Amino acid sequence: MSEALLSVGILSADLGRLAEELARLEQAGADWIHLDVMDGCFAPPILGDAALFKAVRRYTKLPLDVHLMVQNPEKKVAQFEGADWITVHAEAGPHLHRAIAEAKRVGAKAGVALNPGTHLSGVMGVAGEIDMVLLVAVDPGFGGAKFVPAVLGKADKIREKLAELGTEGVKVGIDGGINLDNAAQVGRYADVVVSGSAVFKGAGPESNIAAFKKAFGQKD
Ligand code: DX5
Ligand code: ZN
Repeated sequence: MSEALLSVGILSADLGRLAEELARLEQAGADWIHLDVMDGCFAPPILGDAALFKAVRRYTKLPLDVHLMVQNPEKKVAQFEGADWITVHAEAGPHLHRAIAEAKRVGAKAGVALNPGTHLSGVMGVAGEIDMVLLVAVDPGFGGAKFVPAVLGKADKIREKLAELGTEGVKVGIDGGINLDNAAQVGRYADVVVSGSAVFKGAGPESNIAAFKKAFGQKD
C-alpha cells in the first residue's frame, strides 16, 4: 500500500471565495477535492448541490470526488457528470448496483460508502464493479464530528475481503473526524483520507496540508 492521499472537504472552505480557496488548496498540495452532498433526508443538513458542484468543477483541475449522502442516488448521480469519482451509500436505497452503473455511465469512477454502523456485507455484492470503498468514520451530517475508531478494524477487514475476491485494486477511503492528531494512524489504513474542518483550522491549509502529508509519509 502506498502513502495515503489527502482529499479535502470543500464545504469547510469559505464558499464565498470558492475559486480562491480551490487555488489555495491546489497550491498547498491537496491531492483531491471532496464535495459532500446531503439531501436533508439521508443526512440531516441540506448541503452541496449540482450548482455548487459545477462551480467547484470549473475552478479546479484536481481530481474531484463527490460523496452523495442522498436517498435513491441512482436518480441523482447524472447531475454530477464531470466528477472524477462519484460515491454513493450502500444504505441509500434498493438500487446500489444501478447507482454504480450510472456513475460509470457518466464517466466517473464509482465508490460505495458505508456509515459506521453498516456491516461490510453492504458492499460485497458489488465489490467487483467499484473503484473505492469509502468508510465513513462519523455519523454523516456535520463537519468536525468525533472519529469512530472501529472503522479502522473495518478497513483491515475490507482489504482482506477484497484480496480474497482478487479486487485489491479497489481503494479504501476513510472520511470524517480526521485531524492532525489521528492522521498518521488513519493514514496507515487508508489509500484516501478525507478531511474537511481540520484542514482549515488554526494555521490554515498551507501548513495543515503539509502536516497531513508528512503524517502520511508522502514526499514533498
Ligand atoms: C460526513 C462527511 C465528511 C465530513 C468531513 O458528514 O462525509 O466528509 O464532512 O468533515 P470533517 O473532516 O470535518 O469531519
Ligand atoms: Zn464525505
